[in-house]
Amino acid sequence: MSVNKFIITIEDNAEVFTCPPGRNVLKAMEQLGRKGIPVGCRGGGCGVCRVQVLDQGGYRTGKMSREQVPVEDEEKGICLACKLFPEGDLHLKVLGKWRKQFLTGTV
Ligand code: FES
Repeated sequence: MSVNKFIITIEDNAEVFTCPPGRNVLKAMEQLGRKGIPVGCRGGGCGVCRVQVLDQGGYRTGKMSREQVPVEDEEKGICLACKLFPEGDLHLKVLGKWRKQFLTGTV
């Protein structure tokens, strides 16, 4: 039986939402009206949506700016939510530069 939705949990604010296969995490969050990951260019370039995958439920990434995600960061599970495609349930930590303001509601 194929899975038709993955469960995404954002550790920082305990937000939980689902993401279907083939959709990026940022888009799934926005479509469901959920919050937690700051939204920027939606194209893998600005780095605002940087997250770290805390467990390896399985995922793949699209093309990301190397300036925002150097190879050594990528090896630690750091990626851009707008280019993050889950292949299993994921726990995420928000790393983007607006993280603090966003989580406290000042952005
Ligand atoms: S929103 Fe700009 S890199 Fe994801």
